[in-house]
Amino acid sequence: MEEKLKQLHQEASEKVKQSTELKELNEVRVAYLGKKGPITEVLKGMGKLSAEERPKMGALANEVRDSIASAIESKQQALEAAAIEKKLEQETIDVTLPGLPVKVGTHHPLTSVIEEIEDLFISMGYKIEEGPEVEKDYYNFEALNLPKGHPARDMQDSFYITEDILLRTHTSPVQARTMERHGGKGPVKIICPGKVYRRDNDDATHSHQFMQIEGLVVDENIRMSDLKGTLNLFAKKLFGEEREIRLRPSFFPFTEPSVEMDISCKICGGKGCSVCKGTGWIEILGAGMVHPNVLEMAGFDSEKYTGFAFGMGPERIAMLKYGIDDIRHYYTNDYRFLTQFGRAEFN
Ligand code: PHE
Repeated sequence: MEEKLKQLHQEASEKVKQSTELKELNEVRVAYLGKKGPITEVLKGMGKLSAEERPKMGALANEVRDSIASAIESKQQALEAAAIEKKLEQETIDVTLPGLPVKVGTHHPLTSVIEEIEDLFISMGYKIEEGPEVEKDYYNFEALNLPKGHPARDMQDSFYITEDILLRTHTSPVQARTMERHGGKGPVKIICPGKVYRRDNDDATHSHQFMQIEGLVVDENIRMSDLKGTLNLFAKKLFGEEREIRLRPSFFPFTEPSVEMDISCKICGGKGCSVCKGTGWIEILGAGMVHPNVLEMAGFDSEKYTGFAFGMGPERIAMLKYGIDDIRHYYTNDYRFLTQFGRAEFN
């Protein structure tokens, strides 16, 4: 019996050593230590032994069993550690591999144009002002010399919220508000970019919501030539030194005299083409000398102070600058459209 146990010990130890997988090791455990295994079998024969030998054999059997169990245990730990090692090796991340490209946003073309215009006027000493988009009728119309009943107030053009409150139809109310805040003292030198709203049906050149940039200068001795010089500089900086400007007489209730400014057509150089509709000129903005009534209503002495104002649509400016043919492109956010105007380093 002793021989048999020693032989089993030998055999089992050998098998444990040879096991290379956990599954295999488990089979060895079941085969040698299981209830139907050979050690149990040997122990069953204990009854035939003498009372002297029995405890000796019992102790030996236990010893053999414990030894096999602990060999299996340490082999199991070794195999598990090797498996983890292997997995780690297989799953190693190569940090030197190139990454997946991530799409990066760009400046919206309108933002770019507005910032360019802002930078230009800031360099000339203008401050940026903002005002509410939900505006009082008083600032949107009345304070700008558009009394109740004026044809330009036609309800069709405005989104009214109450009788006295509407979505502003232009950025000119910011002029009125800023002048009022100055309490009759110049100089005022501001530009006001912002959203405006009109009851228009959306098409290639109209949108019910769009942007405007308003400019206003009020001080002593401000003359029409100051306006012209400013607009000339603006046109050349934004569209190119070779561009000419022309001022045409026009009408706005809040300026007198009023003008519209055209720039010479870049496409045909003034000869006339489809972009300028054969005229050689393209309309860019409205402007004029601030109407004395507007100055007075905002608390300025119109005998002492004069001023000029201008208003333009950045959508139109960007359309001309970049050759965009439909205003709706700005608001539909097609990635392919937007990425054409981003800064080169972002693309
Ligand atoms: N507010 C005018 C418009 O919306 C533009 C303008 C501004 C004209 C300032 C003259 C002076 O059409």
